[in-house]
Amino acid sequence: MTNPRVAHLMEDLFLAVNDLVAKHEVTHEEYRAAVAFLNEAAEAGETMLLLDVFLEGGVVDASSREWRGTPKQAVGPYYLEDAPWIEDGQLAGPDEEGDRLLLTGTVRDVDGNPISDAVLDWWQADAKGRYGAFDIPPRTNMNLRGRMHSKEDGSYALHTVVPAAYPIPHEGPTGRLVEALGWHPWRPAHIHLIAGGDGYQPLITQIYFEGDEYLDSDVGRMARHDLALQLTTNGDSRRADFDIVLEASV
Ligand code: DHB
Ligand code: FE
Repeated sequence: MTNPRVAHLMEDLFLAVNDLVAKHEVTHEEYRAAVAFLNEAAEAGETMLLLDVFLEGGVVDASSREWRGTPKQAVGPYYLEDAPWIEDGQLAGPDEEGDRLLLTGTVRDVDGNPISDAVLDWWQADAKGRYGAFDIPPRTNMNLRGRMHSKEDGSYALHTVVPAAYPIPHEGPTGRLVEALGWHPWRPAHIHLIAGGDGYQPLITQIYFEGDEYLDSDVGRMARHDLALQLTTNGDSRRADFDIVLEASV
């Protein structure tokens, strides 16, 4: 059965690729290397990583031009559904290594009204840049992943640790491509968030940190200063405020 959207997009894609092939006089050898590369990426289980690194940011930008809430960001390859519900905003357990971070704020609509009972689903790397389940086995490891609700007045308080910057896996095909481009493999430190409320469109975003050395050279080309926290320091704990803005469903 014909799918007009697929036909339209793929025909345009083939045209664009053929134009590029003609413009750069791509050789048959280069073509075969590209096919082998895609095969290798798939066999290494890097399909998602490869596409997320190079394409997801653009898809997010293209599909959120009308969005007036907190800027959207890619999900990335490390989201897991069914993260545990956490008590009192304690995303990091008492034994978690790293600088303590208290992140507070209010979930609001685009007119500034607080949104109570919004679901905030957080995930982040630890202070060594490791994601539970992916970098720390087993596959069910839910470290630094958790869900909570905003309070009656829309406020939330997240107790966690400052994540470390994270190099995307660079041993495999995706890393080789990144290296061939002359890029470094690092993403700046970030905390992922999916926020949703009854009657509101879901928001997928990431929160960064001012002063991060990779903020302006994110391998995923998606970090932005308007999502970067200016941390205040008190001993070995850090604090910041971050309001989350959602747009009503249409
Ligand atoms: C990507 C996103 C992440 O959040 C991350 O930690 C690593 C990679 C990505 O878009 O590829
Ligand atoms: Fe990430």
